[in-house]
Amino acid sequence: MARDTKLHAGCMAKGENVMEKNEGLLVVDNLVKHFKTTFGTVRAVDGISFAIKPGETFGLVGESGSGKSTTGYVIMGIYTPTSGKIIFKGEDISVHAKKRPGHLKKDMAIVFQDPASSLNPTKTVKEIVGLPLKIHGLIKSYEELDKKVASLLEAVELPAEKFMQRRPKDLGGGERQAIAIARAIATNPSFIVLDEPTSALDVSIQAKIIQVLMRLQRELNLSYLFITHDLSLMRNVASRVAIMYLAKIVEFAPTVAFFQKPLHPYTQMLLSSVPVLTDKEEKLKPKGITSSGEVPSAINPPPGCRFHTRCPYVTDVCKTKEPEFIMTEEGHYVACHLYTR
Ligand SMILES: Nc1ncnc2c1ncn2[C@@H]1O[C@H](COP(=O)(O)OP(=O)(O)OP(=O)(O)O)[C@@H](O)[C@H]1O
Ligand code: SF4
Ligand SMILES: [Mg+2]
Repeated sequence: MARDTKLHAGCMAKGENVMEKNEGLLVVDNLVKHFKTTFGTVRAVDGISFAIKPGETFGLVGESGSGKSTTGYVIMGIYTPTSGKIIFKGEDISVHAKKRPGHLKKDMAIVFQDPASSLNPTKTVKEIVGLPLKIHGLIKSYEELDKKVASLLEAVELPAEKFMQRRPKDLGGGERQAIAIARAIATNPSFIVLDEPTSALDVSIQAKIIQVLMRLQRELNLSYLFITHDLSLMRNVASRVAIMYLAKIVEFAPTVAFFQKPLHPYTQMLLSSVPVLTDKEEKLKPKGITSSGEVPSAINPPPGCRFHTRCPYVTDVCKTKEPEFIMTEEGHYVACHLYTR
């Protein structure tokens, strides 16, 4: 198998010169976020690298606690990175949002998992959606504010006259998330973190919100970092996927290749537990590896390959040596000793 020498947008080896990765709208290089707690240091994100292209949906998948949201929050500047770099449109933004220049702050947005807690319950929809416009000085008069908020509500398929003066408690879950999306696109950003944007919603509403997000992406040429633990959803929305396990990325692939030929044992384990509709799909599912074991603590992760405590293919080397990324096919990378033996 070809040893990777040239990783590009989508995946990068540790220590590569990120400044050469100018094809990425957003480049994350060896990003680390640790939290000091009374129980010890939580290694929430522990050296991950990837790049997102303009206009694409980049999927970040992993079990609960793998570090997906922390990755999104550090990119947004909600948390300061412990180390590593975040480059957005060629500028270094590896600092807290408070220290980032305004033109880059308004060019990025986030939609949180739970619209019930991410929207201020005391404000009206007009105030919520209008706030980023005011903060970034994008409106000059009340008339302009009204017009702009109305057009943002129309963009997420909510009739403006009906919703402008309502408050979050008067809205359904899907409507609230549509408001959160309207707020996210208010400043006309080029990049949005979508942190499990539909997992708190009823199944019947999820498809509608996804459809709105995909249409807005086409119309506004948005790039998405789409965070989810739902592989079936990922299959429908993402062009490329990264799989995260215990604060590390273990596999990257174009979505189609990923579902046809998952390589990492952890990925295979995740896929083997995805419910499918047909016998044909069932036949395609990885065999011989089923979901087992608990995810170890992020305070004291296992040495070597972090998946070794749950992996049926574990050997001695896995317990001591961290596997490096190997490119198996164009754009498909895996970090597992199985592919270097
Ligand atoms: N502010 C914090 N302080 C301390 N530990 C934290 C903090 N935020 C997250 N963590 C820990 O960091 C790890 C990664 O958490 P994170 O929320 O990023 O995971 P996740 O993949 O988004 O999980 P989920 O699917 O449940 O949302 C977990 O062990 C979590 O407990
Ligand atoms: S490196 Fe070893 S333990 Fe880790 S996934 Fe590969 S075979 Fe399993
Ligand atoms: Mg999360």
